[in-house]
Amino acid sequence: MLWIIIGVLMLIAIYFGYQRHLNKNLPPGPWGVPILGYLPWLNPTQPYKTLTELAHKYGPIYSIQMGKHFAVIMSDPSSVRMALARNELADRTNFTVINEIMQEHGLIFTHGALWKEQRKFVCNWLKTIGVCKFGDKKNNLQLNIMDAVSSTISKIRHSNEFPIDTGKLFLVYIGNFINHIVLGKTWPEDDLNWIYLRKLAEDGSKKFAVATPLSVLPILKVIPKYRKTIIEVIEGVKNTHFIYKTLMEKRSGKIDDCDDLMAMFMKEVTKRKNDKDPHYFTEKQCNYLLSDLFGAGVETSVNTLRWFLLYMALNKDIQNELQKQLDLVSTNGAVIDLEQIESVPLLKACVFETMRLRPVAPSGIPRAVNNEIWILGFRIPKGTMVLPLQWAMHRDVKYWVNPLAFQPQRFFDEDGNIINNKAFMPFQAGKRACVGDTLSYWMLFLFGANLIHNFYISMEDNLSEKELNTIMDGEFGITLSPAAHNIIFKSRV
Ligand code: HEM
Repeated sequence: MLWIIIGVLMLIAIYFGYQRHLNKNLPPGPWGVPILGYLPWLNPTQPYKTLTELAHKYGPIYSIQMGKHFAVIMSDPSSVRMALARNELADRTNFTVINEIMQEHGLIFTHGALWKEQRKFVCNWLKTIGVCKFGDKKNNLQLNIMDAVSSTISKIRHSNEFPIDTGKLFLVYIGNFINHIVLGKTWPEDDLNWIYLRKLAEDGSKKFAVATPLSVLPILKVIPKYRKTIIEVIEGVKNTHFIYKTLMEKRSGKIDDCDDLMAMFMKEVTKRKNDKDPHYFTEKQCNYLLSDLFGAGVETSVNTLRWFLLYMALNKDIQNELQKQLDLVSTNGAVIDLEQIESVPLLKACVFETMRLRPVAPSGIPRAVNNEIWILGFRIPKGTMVLPLQWAMHRDVKYWVNPLAFQPQRFFDEDGNIINNKAFMPFQAGKRACVGDTLSYWMLFLFGANLIHNFYISMEDNLSEKELNTIMDGEFGITLSPAAHNIIFKSRV
């Protein structure tokens, strides 16, 4: 018996000795257990909170083992910005299940030459449709968003102050705006294809969320429930691509004057037909790219707008002040435009403050190290997953006074002009930063300003404190969304 105990103790000593050798010069961090690493101690529904607590203990850069992935968590804004700008961090983490779903196509989860080429293509497309400083294209794009705003307002007016699920509402109208720029098409609300794609967007993002735990802990795949979910997601992707394919076939030969992403891609395919190497302009890539752009653009914007309305409902004094200021710039009941919004910095500050307190990616969207680098004197080995921890940076007392309070004025200088805060990073930074930042600000400003101008916003009566906390704690899947709730819109103009 004694020999068994001595043997076990020796094995433990060898294991920890070997770990120490491997861990030389790595950022500090908590110990984990074999296979699971630190996973058993992570808050399963709000992991970003545990990661933030660890940042308080271990500092602005620390490491933890998350199942099979070694992760480095960063929360000092200057070093995060410096790190994200480096070529060594321009890749995404190699999540096996995500690769199984996305087949390493599209944009968000790609790497190397495909990512470089397709990102450039998408950035050029955004400029072509008017995401630029000024000009007719920008005006047209703005008019398209304003159309979506008008349709939303008219739909709300028909609700006669009945409580509205803003998740479903915004998915219809923001979703259709993104359909317009990505697919060159909008659908009536009751179109069967559009109902199906919305259902996928609602369920799919919840289902897709299991891809992360399955990727860090592949053994979970043996559980039938998880396997079934992944099969359903892959099925949804296939059906979506079938809808796109049918649309492409219908549009063939009719896209000369179109500048939506699908049309631009189809033109690029034709242009490259005679090239020996079409690079990545294939039908498969087109399908994944279109769904990536829809997915990345809609869920993020819809959730941010929902959080914004919740903060407006909870902060009536700020809502009233905003309404007064918007009344001053509005003209004859027309939709308030971006130029008019420039005179209402409080609106922008409220959107920023919403994104500070409820970033849609609170743990950050992970990057992967493609070649060993040193950051802040620590060695970060190839393959490490790096998380820029937005939750911690957005509430760090070094950069924000009273960080838990909703105080849009913190984004003003003494003269009332908007100021930047380097700790504010909802779109992250560097080589792979969000390509849709400007466009999403335009959507948020236009929707936000006009909804607040047209309606008094409130939550349903009689919500208990517990229910309110549940809504505001939110649900963390691919993004952080508020828990199910309704908003009451009371007409004011
Ligand atoms: C509130 C709105 C949005 C937020 C908070 C947001 C946030 C983010 C974040 C944090 C990333 C990861 C960036 C990184 O790794 O550094 C990202 C990537 C991306 N976003 Fe957004 N996003 C928003 C809206 C949009 C919109 C409207 C679009 C397109 C129309 C879009 C397209 C993308 C794409 C394609 C990527 C992947 C970029 C790459 O890997 O190269 N996003 N977004």
